[in-house]
Amino acid sequence: MSKIAVIGAGNVGSLVAMRIAEANLADLVLLDVISGIAIGKALDMEDASVIMGHNRTIKGTADFSLLEGCDIVVITAGFSRNPGMSRVDLLNKNAQVIRGISRNLKELKKEPIVIVVTNPVDILTYLVLKITGFDKRRVMGLGGSLDTARFINLIRQELKVSYEDVKTFVIGAHSENMIPLVSKTQVKNRPLTEILSEDKIKLLVDATQKRGATIVSNLGSGSAYFAPSAAILEMVKAIILDEKKEIIASSFLDGEYDLKDICFGVPVIIGKNGIEKIVKLELAQEEHSGLINTAKGIKQCLICA
Ligand code: LAC
Repeated sequence: MSKIAVIGAGNVGSLVAMRIAEANLADLVLLDVISGIAIGKALDMEDASVIMGHNRTIKGTADFSLLEGCDIVVITAGFSRNPGMSRVDLLNKNAQVIRGISRNLKELKKEPIVIVVTNPVDILTYLVLKITGFDKRRVMGLGGSLDTARFINLIRQELKVSYEDVKTFVIGAHSENMIPLVSKTQVKNRPLTEILSEDKIKLLVDATQKRGATIVSNLGSGSAYFAPSAAILEMVKAIILDEKKEIIASSFLDGEYDLKDICFGVPVIIGKNGIEKIVKLELAQEEHSGLINTAKGIKQCLICA
């Protein structure tokens, strides 16, 4: 019987807990510093189980000792962006939140697999890894799979095709410097560059890079949660069901893609042991140099974190 903890009972945290329970993947602990929010939302979700048809338990709490025995911990706690803010603007406040959580996780007898969602995610994934000292293959961050879904969605709307017809990757940082791999983008097995003009592709790339900010500015406060929670569910499912699925996740790199000692979004194989393999893509020259340049920026931030 699998057990998953979600830390942070805000929009992303509570929605992902609900998605996991309704997919019948695991029993849940929903933890929040404001225990009433976690308890109230967990009670409400459990009532829904009867209508949605599952027998999963969802325990709301502020007590870290209830995380003992978890297979996976999803960290969504922290501040989210307001209009006009970048993800890196959250670094100081959220690094503090993540440090506290990581120290608690380090105390657990059984090492869980950790999925970090709090922004700026690549930097905070690295911080969790360093503070907990967990196996580098058991700590990953959400970003690339969400950005890839956004790029695919925009392409499918533009070309009026099914999402299944579009293959692409968005790698690098989960920031506006993310790198949609245009050279690897295919629609019905044809290169996107043969289907759309360079200008049109640039507009789609730009809209993908700004998609998170566009959502934030429309919401007025808080950030996206439907697609992020769906992307977290995909990772959780790959682990619990040992799917060995290729998913783009922020992963610790140790020389792969010519990057060392950094967490960055790249395609990886996810299964019951976490990141089971890092997939190496051949990048176009400018994509590779874009990756290296963004990494320099992240390294600067790592010093501040
Ligand atoms: C977003 C958050 C998850 O991109 O960073 O919506």
